[in-house]
Amino acid sequence: MLKTHHGIELSTSNANVVALYEQALNHIHRYEAGTGAKIKAMLTEQPDFWAGHLLFGTVLATATEARFMPKIRKIVDQVSQAQDKLNDRERGHLSALSAFSQGQWREAGFHWGKILTDHPHDSLALHAAHQIDFITGDDYNLWSRAARVLPLWNEDIPNYANLLGMYAFGLEETNFFSKAEDIGRRCCELDPRDAWGHHAVGHVLEMECRFEEGINWYESRRSEWADDSELSVHNWWHLALYYVEREDFAGAIALFDEQISLEEPDYVLRLMDATALLWRLHLRSVDCGDRWQKLADRWVGKIAVEGGFYAFNDFHAMLALMMGERWSDFKQLRDQIKTQAQQPTTLGVMARDISIPLASAVEAYGKNRCEEAVSILDQVKPLVYRFGGSEAQRDAVDQFHIGAAIKGGLGRAALALAHERTLKKEESPLAWRFAGEAYKLMGDEVSADNANTKAIRLLS
Ligand SMILES: [Fe+2]
Repeated sequence: MLKTHHGIELSTSNANVVALYEQALNHIHRYEAGTGAKIKAMLTEQPDFWAGHLLFGTVLATATEARFMPKIRKIVDQVSQAQDKLNDRERGHLSALSAFSQGQWREAGFHWGKILTDHPHDSLALHAAHQIDFITGDDYNLWSRAARVLPLWNEDIPNYANLLGMYAFGLEETNFFSKAEDIGRRCCELDPRDAWGHHAVGHVLEMECRFEEGINWYESRRSEWADDSELSVHNWWHLALYYVEREDFAGAIALFDEQISLEEPDYVLRLMDATALLWRLHLRSVDCGDRWQKLADRWVGKIAVEGGFYAFNDFHAMLALMMGERWSDFKQLRDQIKTQAQQPTTLGVMARDISIPLASAVEAYGKNRCEEAVSILDQVKPLVYRFGGSEAQRDAVDQFHIGAAIKGGLGRAALALAHERTLKKEESPLAWRFAGEAYKLMGDEVSADNANTKAIRLLS
């Protein structure tokens, strides 16, 4: 047994392997590119380093792509056969990854959390649990897991800054914006390469409608979060959201073309961010040219493997297929979702409770049955937090709801939803634009003018 620089015991006697494990962790915590190379070097150095295999499986798990599940299951099988070579903590990781591989993502989070109780410096367990909380919409644990261990850490312990980044994001998602910003900025001071810390501050600036500050935050620190980062596309997407708010649609499209919707490397998070941006532009009546068609093509290439796997991914696939009018592919996706919905797992429950009604709403919107879409969204919207993602990402559903009401000419519904939005985001030009359209539908030209004037004042 050797110990890592976190004091965590690993079942190996090879110091080089421990060093490579620590380096891989550093990449994981910062979301830096190159994690795969570190893992490969580690497992080449010691092919039977089972804790390293578990780390590899955990990295694959947090990608939330079905294509990685066979490899994750293979790792679980291999490591299960070597259980007597593991310590208790490593067996905890095996239990977590095993639950994950069976679609029981909440149970996986429980196991990773249990490890943290006994080993509060196990930063891999913390990273995994944090990501599970994020993708299952568990906002309570999203901040509390970091809070439970934070007093036991200090600046002298490696990756302390990255722990602050997780804590900041959890605070932001639970609406402790001021504290989240302070801690997120401290994270980036201590470790300027922490893309998650940048992201946490970016979320605060989005939620507080501080759009110009958001642009400055990302632009001025671009080399820290954009270069060689697995999270760069998502951070580019956040930057584009500020452009949408300030109605610089050409700027948002340029970011879409130049940074977000690239062909390589091709992964689902990229397609989701691309879809989420085009969706917001569509709801502002921006002509996106043939971008929807190209995006739908890419989703069609994905759904044979990814369709029906994870509800949050599926929602974005549905939007792209609907906008590209790929109705036969849409039907295929819906059938895959129905199959998943029969499973008694975290993923099955998400599919049953969220994806199935959302698919009906998306189809209804695409086929101009907007009253039906609004009615379905009225019922499913309170549940969508359970399919994970951030508040900013799930805003795609909120905007869908308002957009469907406006498209359907449903003035009262549009106005109610616009009221909800303007009270929540009083400094958002977008919220007032929606309000302007809702008032117009109600025939209230004076209020519509006032709402648009407010939007213009906020934009100046
Ligand atoms: Fe985000």
